[in-house]
Formats: sequence, structure tokens, C-alpha cells
Amino acid sequence: EFTLDTKKVGAPVQSTMYGLFFEDINFGADGGLYAELVKNRSFDFPQELMGWYTFGKVEVRKDNPPFDKNPNYLVLSNPGHAHKHTGIENEGFRGMGFKKDATYRFSVWAKKVNTTEDQKIRVEFINPKDEVIGSQELIINSPDWQKHQVVITAKATEEKGRLRIFLASRGAIAVDHVSLFPTDTYKGRENGLRKDLAQALTDITPGIFRFPGGCIVEGTDLDTRYDWKKTIGPVENRPVNENRWHYTFTNRFFPDYYQSYGLGFYEYFLLSEDMGAEPLPVLSCGLACQFQNEDRHAHVPVSDLAPYIQDALDLIEFANGPVTSTWGKVRADMGHPEPFNLKFIGIGNEQWGEEYPEHLAPFVKEIRAKYPDMKIVGSSGPSADGKQFDYLWPEMKRLKVDLVDEHYYKEPDWFFKNAARYDNYDRKGPAVFAGEYASHDHSTGKQNNFLSALSEAAFMTGLERNADIVHMCTYAPLFAHVDAWQWCPDMIWFDNLRMMKTPNYYVQQLYAQNKGTNTMTLLWPDKKAVTGQDNLYASAVYDKDQNCYIVKVANTGTEAKNVKVTLTGTKKNAAFTVGDCIVIKNNNLKAINTLDTPTNIIPEKATASIDGNILNIQTQGQSFGVYKVKL
Ligand code: AHR
Repeated sequence: EFTLDTKKVGAPVQSTMYGLFFEDINFGADGGLYAELVKNRSFDFPQELMGWYTFGKVEVRKDNPPFDKNPNYLVLSNPGHAHKHTGIENEGFRGMGFKKDATYRFSVWAKKVNTTEDQKIRVEFINPKDEVIGSQELIINSPDWQKHQVVITAKATEEKGRLRIFLASRGAIAVDHVSLFPTDTYKGRENGLRKDLAQALTDITPGIFRFPGGCIVEGTDLDTRYDWKKTIGPVENRPVNENRWHYTFTNRFFPDYYQSYGLGFYEYFLLSEDMGAEPLPVLSCGLACQFQNEDRHAHVPVSDLAPYIQDALDLIEFANGPVTSTWGKVRADMGHPEPFNLKFIGIGNEQWGEEYPEHLAPFVKEIRAKYPDMKIVGSSGPSADGKQFDYLWPEMKRLKVDLVDEHYYKEPDWFFKNAARYDNYDRKGPAVFAGEYASHDHSTGKQNNFLSALSEAAFMTGLERNADIVHMCTYAPLFAHVDAWQWCPDMIWFDNLRMMKTPNYYVQQLYAQNKGTNTMTLLWPDKKAVTGQDNLYASAVYDKDQNCYIVKVANTGTEAKNVKVTLTGTKKNAAFTVGDCIVIKNNNLKAINTLDTPTNIIPEKATASIDGNILNIQTQGQSFGVYKVKL
């Protein structure tokens, strides 16, 4: 029924077309991607011992700390009786995950206090029955602060473990920055990422990586905004910050949600590089999160924006500057003398009102003056339609930003109805970055069910068809801890041991792995694009590197349908063959994956046949498939 004119090779699909948006929400960074297992490792949460239990003689001190930006430390002293003990115990992030026979690097900054005798600590992994499932001793022999570390093997698997540290000698010691990482992190880095989660991101083959948020960029107030300069350098001296998602718009409240900044901008750039994605950092534009901050006084006046603008300029230098530059040297000292080759920068997250363009304008001016090639991403506000959206798009055009970040968290029906959303967008203005979107099925508590994934797949045919103007898109949010989430749906769910890819993940992956190099026009006989007529949504691309056409079809009805794609404009004897075809489907729209049944909905091999220049696809009801035709 459809035609694909092979002579009309359309606009390039940008390498950045499909990507990832990361935010520390739902324990996405601390307690999630960042592999640190100890919560409040430096005792610098405002409640100094949050996350810790203490026993015996334990005192919080801050005189002569080893790290001035995280001044608190503990002194553990002899409890004064042979039957008494002194020690501390950390609860982790809703527990600590230990895997049998896996090894963990325990480290602590410590010194002996008021004693010439060597001191000793015993480090234990504990399960909920209070059994020891891993243990090692460490000698603290210096009166000066030193880093001590030891590798401990877990003897059993435990999802809700704890870390216990005993003072195992009769004197006193001081401890700070108590840390525990699996040795097997992504790429084996010491200050590393949880391997399964980082690998899942890499496996999407993202072209763009937007970080670090979201509302956390803006902060609940300006003091708690994301300040990239605090997130670089030695991890021990990155100050703790209160997470915006400590408080939430939903009824979930996590008083223990802070950012250690252990996963900071250097690590985000590294991850972008590892994944082969272009980094897209987003910085505060001087507006605190506008939800619940209607008062202009919550924000920086435009006249006082200079330090914020300087932060943006310095970030570009940190990413791209030569090692001889101030910030390029900081990057080099951290281990990356080569530039990160930053091409995009976002200024402001999901801002709105007149104050946004007012704040953005001086950033655009100064960034353009110093870095004319840098692509600037502006925002169209919190929703993909409505007053703010209508006001901000013309403003973004006036300010000549390169891309406009659109956000839409909407019902599945909205996604179906908006498959043609970009067909008539102005081609002369900025390009589109669909920076946060997800289909929210309220009827099932916004689960990541198959309906949500199918509606996103159908909608994304419209992103692909309009890849001349849509240059980037990223699902949101990315991660959620099953015991500590405040927002759903989310693309990947995890506990302390396992993770689960949602059907939404697979839709993103199918697009990213089959993005092709150029758009192609796929039409009904009446020359209309395939945007939901007869419950079919479809788009096509050409991949010049593989010399193949890739057709994507979502059949959102319940019935199977035979779809014929006639490839016109080819040489008479052109010999087409069918390449890899893959489909994700389910006859239950409410079906989900869970940690226990992670493969309930996964992509499967599909078949299609070619008859001369006609591709025959037998699409099943409620399916999304990717079909390749090779030349
Ligand atoms: O993705 C969750 C939140 O949604 C983001 O932090 C914010 O940008 C949007 O409101």
C-alpha cells in the first residue's frame, strides 16, 4: 500500500538523533548509576549521621578536616569496657547489594588519634539476619590523614546488605570519606559506574547525552542548583548538595536524597565519550526551578548574571580548552588531556515566562562572541503546547538559539494524535530537541506498559520523518530505583542487584540502532504520510553505509495487517534482499516487564519477504517493527 521513492534521498538524519537524558531523580545517580554503595560517606549531610547507625563512643568533628569542602569526620574511641564496642554501620541506598564471590573495594581516609599504638578496624558486610557475609581488617598506623583500602569478597548474595565498621583496637581513630565500590565497575574505573546500568545505556547506541537534568540543574533554590565547578577535582572534596528531588511534586518525600557529586561533569563527559554520544551539558540560567518559585526574587537578576555566564564559558574551556588553559588544565589534571570536543550547550532547563528569554539573551551573546561554533539549546517551557510554548518558540527564534528543547509527558492518545506534529514546523527557525518525553498511561498508574511503548514508537515515526528539523530526542526520565522513585514511568528500573529494561527502552534502542543516514518519503497512494490512518504509523530511512532502506511500522490496532511497500525509482533488475527484521509486540497493552520477568516484552526476530521491488510485511496487531531491505 505504501510507496518509497528510492530516487528521493532526503535530509541527513543527524548522528545525535536518538540519545539519552540523564538526571539524578529516583536515585538515578547516587544509589543508581554511580556505583558508590555508602550513603553520606563523608558525614556532610545536614543531619551529619543520616544513613549511619553508631554504637559505642562516636563523635562528629570538623576541626582540621582532611577535606575543607566536606569538613565533617568521625572520631571512634575506646568504649571503655572489654564487652563494649565502638563502630558505625551504613544502610546504603535502601540497602547495599552484594553478589556472591564478587569483590568490593573498601576505602577510608583515617588516622590514629592521641596514641602511638597502631589501631585496627574490622570491616564487615552484614545481611538482614545480622550474619557476616564478608570481612577484612585494616591497620591504621599513621597520625596523619591517609587513604587506606582493602578488597573484600562477598560470601553470599544479598540485596539489602549493610556495611559495619568496628574499632578493633583499644585506642582512637578518626575516619572520613568511607567508601565502598564493586571492583567490577563499567570500564573498571575506581570512581566508577554500576556496570549493568552503564552497559544498558551504551547498548542503546545513543548519539547525544544530555546531563545532569532536569530540575536539578535549576535547584529548589539557587543555592542548591547544579554547580558544575563543585563536581570536579578529587571526589573527596566535592561538596554535598541537596537534591531537587529531595522534595517532589508528587507525594513522595526523600529526606535522605543528596548529591555526592561523585558522578560529576568529568565523569559525564567520560561516559559520553565511552558511549560514542555527543555530550550536551545543561547549565543554570540563573532561574531556580520555577515550580513553586513564582517569586522573581528566587532568581538572579539579569544584571547579576555575570558569574553564571562565566560558568558557561569556563565549562566550554574545561571541555575543549588546551591543557595550557586554566580549565583545560583542570581537565588534563583529572586524566583527560585530550579535549572532549563539546559542540552543544543547554542554557536553562524547563524555564518559562518573560524572565527566561531575558536571562538567556546575555548568555547567547557572550557564548556566540567567544565560541561562535557552539550550538546553543534553549527551552520552550514545561509543555509541548499551551501559552508558554506559544510565547517561547518565537522568543527562541528571536534569540537565534540553534535548538529548542521541547518537553512532553502526555497520555498515549496524545502521542498517537501527534505523529504528524512536526510535519508543518517552520524549517527556517531553530531545530527541535525533543529533550524530555514519555507516554503516561494514567489508567495503570503510569506504568511502563506496552501501550506507552507502542504509542511512543508510533509517535517517533513522526520524529524520524521530520529528521530534517528534529535533530535530537531523548526519553525521560532514564532510571528509577524500585524502592526509591518519585516519578514514573522511567526507562530502566533497578534494585541493588538487578535491572530491568522496559519496552520503552527497546523502542528507543530500535530507533537508535536503525537510524540510517537519510530520511526517505513513505506515502500512502493518496500521497499522504503514514500517520495513523488504518491504525498504521510508518517512516523510512536510507542507510548509505549499509546500502539499505529501513522501514519502521507500528500497527496499533488489534488485527494483523499485510503492509506492502513498493520501492519505486530503482533500476529494472535491481535485486533487493530482506535484511534483519525485528519486532516488539504484545497482545496485552497493559503488559509490563518486571525485575522478576525482565524478558516478558523484548524485541524478537521478524520476517518479511521481497517480491521484485515490493516488500511484504505481515505486521501483527499491536506491534512495532523495523524491516531492512538491502540493495
Ligand atoms: O524528567 C523529570 C522532570 O520533568 C525534569 O526534571 C524536568 O525537566 C521536568 O519537569
